[in-house]
Amino acid sequence: MFDFLSQTFRNFKHTGAVWPSGRKLAREMTSSLRASSGPKRVLEVGPGTGPFTSRILQSIHPGDEFHIVEINPFFCSVLKNRLLDSFRDRHPDLTVELHESPIELAPIEGPFDHIICGLPFNNFPPPLVRDIFKRMLSLLAEDGDLTYFEYAAVRAIKAPITSPKSRRNLRRIDAHGKRLHRRHRGSRQLVMANFPPAVAVRLHQPTN
Ligand SMILES: C[S@@+](CC[C@H](N)C(=O)[O-])C[C@H]1O[C@@H](n2cnc3c(N)ncnc32)[C@H](O)[C@@H]1O
Repeated sequence: MFDFLSQTFRNFKHTGAVWPSGRKLAREMTSSLRASSGPKRVLEVGPGTGPFTSRILQSIHPGDEFHIVEINPFFCSVLKNRLLDSFRDRHPDLTVELHESPIELAPIEGPFDHIICGLPFNNFPPPLVRDIFKRMLSLLAEDGDLTYFEYAAVRAIKAPITSPKSRRNLRRIDAHGKRLHRRHRGSRQLVMANFPPAVAVRLHQPTN
């Protein structure tokens, strides 16, 4: 908790939250992994201190591959020390790779069956939001799913108290999200038992 708060104060633009996500949101964000059968490739983007990472580690099996991309070196070392080193010792047959990099430049190759994304899109400039979604969707397998979250009503709450430029940016991010929702059979699940309440958004890659 304190690890997360320290990074919030140092780097709010990238961290974008004051609190790590709770268990109920982590469960919702990772539900498609538990529903899938057969070997899978999983990508997590923006794990922070790892609330989704621990759920993902519980849902992977021999033959699966799990890649994690995190921009902040501090969070990378927290993940390694708290979760990944001991997991790798206990499961030498599983591939788990941590990439310390922005997702825009991460040296990874698709396709991934499931992408779980914790990025704070409402803090980013709209062109970056578009680039990141483009990259993630290019890494997503046919019939794969990409799940991200946002705090409930975040744009409606932020809009009246922010500058006109930020308001315009929030409108553009909202419009982009709606386009993706239409193109990728989007679904939304409200998780009230999170601080703050959040919506998990799931997009699907069409099959050709
Ligand atoms: C809102 S926090 C979410 C952390 C965690 N998933 C959770 O829900 O508690 C956003 C995380 O995304 C990371 N991040 C921000 N921009 C990124 C980028 N371009 N590529 C990879 N990670 C990024 C931040 O360092 C931070 O760990």
